Amino acid sequence: MSLAQTIMPEGYIFPPKPAPLTAVEKDEYKARIKQLLQQKNAVLVAHYYTDPEIQALAEETGGCVADSLEMARFGARHDADMIIVAGVRFMGETAKILTPNKTVVMPTLEATCSLDIGCPIDDFSAFCDLHPDRKVVVYANTSTAVKARADWIVTSSCALEIVEHLDEQDEKIIWGPDKHLGSYIQKNTGADMIMWNGACIVHDEFKTKALKDMKALHPDAGVLVHPESPEEIVALADAVGSTSQLIKAAQTMTNKKFIVATDRGIFYKMQQLCPDKEFFAAPTAGEGASCKSCANCPWMAMNGLQAIEEALITPQGKEVFVDMDLREGALKSLNRMLDFTENMVK
Ligand code: 13P
Ligand code: SF4
Repeated sequence: MSLAQTIMPEGYIFPPKPAPLTAVEKDEYKARIKQLLQQKNAVLVAHYYTDPEIQALAEETGGCVADSLEMARFGARHDADMIIVAGVRFMGETAKILTPNKTVVMPTLEATCSLDIGCPIDDFSAFCDLHPDRKVVVYANTSTAVKARADWIVTSSCALEIVEHLDEQDEKIIWGPDKHLGSYIQKNTGADMIMWNGACIVHDEFKTKALKDMKALHPDAGVLVHPESPEEIVALADAVGSTSQLIKAAQTMTNKKFIVATDRGIFYKMQQLCPDKEFFAAPTAGEGASCKSCANCPWMAMNGLQAIEEALITPQGKEVFVDMDLREGALKSLNRMLDFTENMVK
């Protein structure tokens, strides 16, 4: 069964969610997937925003659950023949760029990202051409072509440090595509940055007034915010960071309660690592409004057990390929990020 597509007012087509499964069906899928992973010498790499069921399966089968930077590293270092990337398209492409000789498959190639959609290569490249004196720094949530056009690629785990490094060398920057992450980085580094006008439809939905009200209800709660959120939400945070940095903050901060402004898939790992703490989802619907993504990325949600099994049985149509010429350019800037972060204190 698949549910109807919803065309959002902004023009995004929200994909149908995987059909719900009974507990018995889930167990049957998981057992078959475990066997197939072994048979195919495959490893499952999942993002923190995927369904908890999938995160647990990745952990149980020796794969990994991680942020986008660690997903890239894990796949590149693992000796499996096949990498199953449960996440969104740019994560699968990054894996393929780093390991072109491996078979990289995704439960669905349709799992995209509003930042990637909002940054088409021709327009972005023309924007860069207008400012040839600037270094082009792009977020990992982009196509291979945009990565190939960039001098540097960053994820939210390392964007601050990389921009700081470029600023110290008096480099001026073109930043794309996320304007909120860009303005957060700009504010904290003072770097000279001009921004592409992109946003994440999930983080863009957090509501300032409703978050203030929630804070008033739970004055002892720490507020954890992903920097893809709007500036006014970031201003209310006690900790701002990538998914893995927010998980770490939940572990190290002394609060017993947290309000979390990012995709709710992250609660699985937070609750697992902090069983005695309480986590509340930051509000996405303001007064009189209703949420659209409701803090759950519609493309991450496409990664279901059924689609993972299908990808393992018949990779055709689910295998990730990248243009080999573009790969060359994208690999250079990706490696720049990986080398830089290798020396970062974690
Ligand atoms: P992280 O790099 O923090 O995992 O974020 C990826 C992403 O898509 C957040 O929306
Ligand atoms: Fe893209 Fe936002 Fe989904 Fe992350 S949560 S994959 S940035 S749309």
